[in-house]
Amino acid sequence: MLKVINVVGARPNFMKVAPLVEAAGRRAGEFAAVVVHTGQHYDARMSADFFRDLGLPAPDVHLGVGSGSHAQQTAAVMQRFEPVVLEQKPDWVVVVGDVNSTLACALVCSKLGVPVAHVEAGLRSRDRSMPEEVNRLLTDQLSELLLTPSADADRNLISEGIPAERIRLVGNVMIDSLVKHLALSESSDARERFGVAGADYAVVTLHRPSNVDDPRVLRRVLSALARLSRRLPVVFPIHPRTRKSLADFGLDKDEALSGDFRLVEPLGYLDFLRLYSGARLVLTDSGGLQEETTALGIPCLTLRENTERPVTVELGTNRVVGTDEERIVSEAEAALRGAGGAGRPRVPPLWDGRAADRILDALLDRTRELRAGGF
Ligand code: UD1
Repeated sequence: MLKVINVVGARPNFMKVAPLVEAAGRRAGEFAAVVVHTGQHYDARMSADFFRDLGLPAPDVHLGVGSGSHAQQTAAVMQRFEPVVLEQKPDWVVVVGDVNSTLACALVCSKLGVPVAHVEAGLRSRDRSMPEEVNRLLTDQLSELLLTPSADADRNLISEGIPAERIRLVGNVMIDSLVKHLALSESSDARERFGVAGADYAVVTLHRPSNVDDPRVLRRVLSALARLSRRLPVVFPIHPRTRKSLADFGLDKDEALSGDFRLVEPLGYLDFLRLYSGARLVLTDSGGLQEETTALGIPCLTLRENTERPVTVELGTNRVVGTDEERIVSEAEAALRGAGGAGRPRVPPLWDGRAADRILDALLDRTRELRAGGF
């Protein structure tokens, strides 16, 4: 029996951990799962609603860390997580993704000699100005087991000198949540609520510091979206960070940015799935949404200069278009015409809804190897 602490902290973590906890529950003879929530995200719409929608049991331990600077947030997670690990004595700690909580918990474990498994290992944007890129690089260095979603991630890790026996290609566990909830999401009335049922519409999300903390960048992206919204409604569930920037920069009152924007609060998992799964086009700077649109075959424009998820461009529906206003408008028009695709998009291998069991198998397998090696 392996005791596994599963760490969640921020919104993009919940849909990756829910399938793991569910699979561990099915395999109760082999695994005992403990869920630790760092509290990095704390608003109901950024956290509790996801536990409800994903059927994720309430956390066993809540660290209540909240917002702060990167250093404050990372340090607070470390201070509060260390006693939990000492008390729980897990066989493994599983961290997911690339948020500050991911790195903070991995660092605590590496100092305590507790093995860490990193889910979604090996992704690289090669842009170290992104806080997530630093979190990814360091978490991978600290982890005993690197669970990758796609073959490009394996290649990145090997090129950074990580031994091959620590790397397992398991596929994309976020797609487990998508596969499980797609039919269930039909019970959501999100399309009706925002007046787009049966219509063509676009969905937008924006929250990266590089896009929303700089008024010039945010203004030109919004200007492009305003132009697009004169062709079709644009539904924009707005992240707390972005809402704050709009108000701080006075962009929420700017007439030049008017159009058919439907600014709505951040949505829960099922409502958001219902919304984007019916969209003609998604425009985003999120990592997860690049993957979800690829899994569903929905055209996606990524409003960044790079992506750590190149497989969504090579096989899937994603195009990385940057933040130039004219480029966004022309790429959106091309996507709406159905132009620009090189053949039918494909879903990457092992994005099949069964990654969670492969992850648990990898934990068992690596434990056996380590024990046989006398660790
Ligand atoms: C974090 C992650 C990012 C992820 C994103 C998803 C890091 C470095 N970044 O960015 O990778 O894509 O979450 O949402 O970990 N806030 C609230 N309520 C909340 C959470 C945040 O109001 O529940 C506000 C606070 O003012 C906070 C700001 O949003 O300062 C930013 O939150 P934070 O967790 O620091 O980073 P995100 O931008 O959400």
